[in-house]
Amino acid sequence: MRRKVIAGNWKMNLDHRQGETLARELLGGLNGRKPSVEIIIIPPFTTLPSVLGVVGGTIIGCGAQDLWYEDKGAFTGEISGPMLKSLGCDYVLVGHSERRHIRGEDSELLSRKLRAALRAGLIPIFCVGELLPEREKGKAETVVVEQLRQVLGGLEKEEISRVIIAYEPVWAIGTGKTATPEDASQMHGVIRNFLEELFGSPVSAAAVILYGGSVKPENASRLLAAADVDGALVGGASLQASSFLGIVFPS
Ligand code: PGA
Repeated sequence: MRRKVIAGNWKMNLDHRQGETLARELLGGLNGRKPSVEIIIIPPFTTLPSVLGVVGGTIIGCGAQDLWYEDKGAFTGEISGPMLKSLGCDYVLVGHSERRHIRGEDSELLSRKLRAALRAGLIPIFCVGELLPEREKGKAETVVVEQLRQVLGGLEKEEISRVIIAYEPVWAIGTGKTATPEDASQMHGVIRNFLEELFGSPVSAAAVILYGGSVKPENASRLLAAADVDGALVGGASLQASSFLGIVFPS
């Protein structure tokens, strides 16, 4: 049985006070209930310390939205893996489509970032996904497999086993459009086959593959029930305790 994960990417929202409030609301909302999924929240860098002050040592895990690939040095404005780890983070996003498309991050850079995360003892949540024109041309699978190959190719089995993969079709992010559970399932199957080809069946069978793109309480249970979908990476709906907890505890 693979573990299920629900991760909330707060993006560039909530300052350290607002983030602390949301973290308290989430903990309070759990109200002693034990969710059947692992919960991760991913606040902006400056919000991390106050959020970690609330959720550190609880069942809510915490991650960062990005990292730089060197551990320290003259990289003005950047944050390293060891800095995040020493703060208490356990996870870090790598290759979110907003960084690929707005910041122009390519596979070479993402490959370095992913390896830096592993080196620091962080669990990378590596995001892949196609653009709408790529899907319309029937190229979605080729694009996703290429993104995986360029960054994950060459990892040791021990390393790939620590990576969480998130499939996020770019056209579904923040748009209210969601892939159907069948589409998500199909792509997750492709990702699992790719992992099997490169790293063998035990790695592929154990890999945690999340779906992301307009996941909300109303559509989460159908998506999460789809074959090969091991959880969700949630953006907009993670900014309020009620909607995020509505995904963690589907009714
Ligand atoms: P969304 O974002 O849920 O707002 O579509 C998902 C993501 O970007 O991770």
